[in-house]
Amino acid sequence: MDVIKKLQKIVGIDRATTSPVQLYCYSSDSSQIRGTPDYVVRPQNTEQVSQLMRFANKHGIPVTARGAGTGLAGGAVALNGGIVLDLSGMDMILDIDINNLQVAIEPGVIHSRLNKALEPKGFFFPPDPGSSEMCTLGGLIANNGSGMRTVKYGTTKNYVLDLEVVMADGSVINTGSKTLKSSAGYDLTRLMVGSEGTLGIITKAVLKILPLPKARTVMLASFKTPELAGDVVVKTLSAGVIPSACEILDRVTVEVLNAYDPNIAIPDAGATILFELDGTKGSVQEQAKVVEIVCKPLASGIRIATDREEMEEIWSARRLVGAAISRINPNKVRVYVGEDIGVPIKEIPRMLKLVQSISKEFDLSIMTYGHIGDGNLHTGMCIDMLDNEQWEQLDLAADKIHRTAIMLGGTVSAEHGIGSARSRYMRLERGDALDVMILIKRALDPKGILNPGKLGV
Ligand code: LAC
Ligand code: ZN
Repeated sequence: MDVIKKLQKIVGIDRATTSPVQLYCYSSDSSQIRGTPDYVVRPQNTEQVSQLMRFANKHGIPVTARGAGTGLAGGAVALNGGIVLDLSGMDMILDIDINNLQVAIEPGVIHSRLNKALEPKGFFFPPDPGSSEMCTLGGLIANNGSGMRTVKYGTTKNYVLDLEVVMADGSVINTGSKTLKSSAGYDLTRLMVGSEGTLGIITKAVLKILPLPKARTVMLASFKTPELAGDVVVKTLSAGVIPSACEILDRVTVEVLNAYDPNIAIPDAGATILFELDGTKGSVQEQAKVVEIVCKPLASGIRIATDREEMEEIWSARRLVGAAISRINPNKVRVYVGEDIGVPIKEIPRMLKLVQSISKEFDLSIMTYGHIGDGNLHTGMCIDMLDNEQWEQLDLAADKIHRTAIMLGGTVSAEHGIGSARSRYMRLERGDALDVMILIKRALDPKGILNPGKLGV
């Protein structure tokens, strides 16, 4: 059977290829995981995806869905060959429905494009990943990604009202509706969110949106140690202030940011907490007062930014931390392992301390940054690519970071996904629930063609 001919018949001759160069370009995401597909297919609509799935299912060909490839866990990498389905070309904003507080989009829409379209109407889609300028909404939904605003606004799953999904056999379903709530049966929307393309292919989504807050302020508070910074976060939240963002930047992260953009000039400290407060002008002032009272006895400095330009500068730099890390030492590369743990809020100071002791134990410098307000820490490690011993130490350190997070009641992935990078921890973290996931996977994808080798299912 001539598979490529059939694929080209479904999507058009220019939209399905076996060119080795193209296959190579699609052999990785933003992690170090690699896997070359046999075919790359770029569908343009749901009907084509449905026909492709019917064909792939009949012949047992693996299908791995992909957006912009910004994933950090190998989720969009074809480990068993087969088809990589590039959905980035299905990129229409179909409807902005302010009266119903929702938008309808295709999966290839870039995250920041949606918020740029909503801003003039006074609305926004709250999940705010670091990769906003690059990642697709389909990928964000498939990974239940989130980012900076989770502490106040929740993650992507809190905003998905309905998904159009092409199932393994090519049938097309809608998991929800346009209503803001529904009690009609199993919550298939939540099942699909975060399923990383293992249960179906998302071809449309209806997302809830919110009015933009009227006022915003950013506060930077410096501390001698990361644990002190962690303490302040726990105290701020228990004092009843829920910031719209609450990020930690440790000493190395601050160095990276200052090197990236000297105008930012964050003071050198053991750790800095970036609080963003939003709401009405009055409520922002009230919240800022509480944060100041909590921080003062413990902080070595507090800076407040209310000027829009200054806030934007701080935020755009924060978004680039992951990429900017490479500037710190040109001979080393950032390897994305053990970098996305989440722990219960109360355990944050303990986790920060344990990361420091893991750093000493394995003689690796670990920079810690991320969404501390929701317990999600990015522990970034850079190594010399050619040094085998450092690779081994890195593996051991990442393993210990993962096990420590689970031991504290946390998770090995708070927002980047499991992919294949973290699938070996699924049993330890989810216990017998993994068996239920495997049953669901078998029921919905009996031939195991949807993104095989992921999530431990
Ligand atoms: C961030 C990405 C790495 O927060 O999640 O920058
Ligand atoms: Zn993040």
